Amino acid sequence: MHLRPFEDQDVEAVEPLLDRCFGPGRHLRTAARLRAGRRRLRGLSFTAEEAGCVLGAVQCWPLLWVPETGPARRLVLLGPLAVEPALRGRGIGVQLMTAVAEALDARALPAMLIGDQPYYGRWGFSPAATGQWRLPGPVEPDRLLLRARREQTWNRPACVPAHARRLEPALPPA
Ligand SMILES: CC(C)(COP(=O)(O)OP(=O)(O)OC[C@H]1O[C@@H](n2cnc3c(N)ncnc32)[C@H](O)[C@@H]1OP(=O)(O)O)[C@@H](O)C(=O)NCCC(=O)NCCS
Repeated sequence: MHLRPFEDQDVEAVEPLLDRCFGPGRHLRTAARLRAGRRRLRGLSFTAEEAGCVLGAVQCWPLLWVPETGPARRLVLLGPLAVEPALRGRGIGVQLMTAVAEALDARALPAMLIGDQPYYGRWGFSPAATGQWRLPGPVEPDRLLLRARREQTWNRPACVPAHARRLEPALPPA
């Protein structure tokens, strides 16, 4: 098994994998609303492959974090992360996540995700600063996780909007 950058053609194998992992309602989730209309961040998205078979994948997307006061900031949305159900517990998820964490660190980028803190906590994701954030859909507070330097500076009332063409020019280049 090896990791490589997520390629556009991986979508063909990864979409059915995501259907199997998250079920048919996955497109209605808040994370899906945040991703809609955005372009995947190639340097932060990875595919686990063996002998031409996709075993798992993780994707990242650019977001904008808009506090009630002060300037907007760039924020990476991490996910979905998924591993073929028959191959779970073999470290594939950890390898995918470690690759993303290293790529985020290399670029000094903050990231958020919606997921289980017991799993993502090992890479520094925590709900401590996200309690006052508003998203374009419901989210359980203990599942809205941030990984950032100077985490306390994110602990403010803020909105993380869905894609809006007129806001995107405010986003610094990735
Ligand atoms: C979550 C997921 C990606 C993990 O992939 P994986 O390849 O099985 O994970 P690994 O083998 O690398 O790591 C397994 C470890 O994570 C733990 N783990 C897995 N899911 C967990 C969870 N939801 N909460 C806490 N720990 C979890 C396992 O107990 C195991 O712990 P250990 O290393 O101490 O033994 C995989 O189970 C999956 O695709 N799930 C469905 C989709 C999903 O929930 N994605 C995450 C939300 S975006």
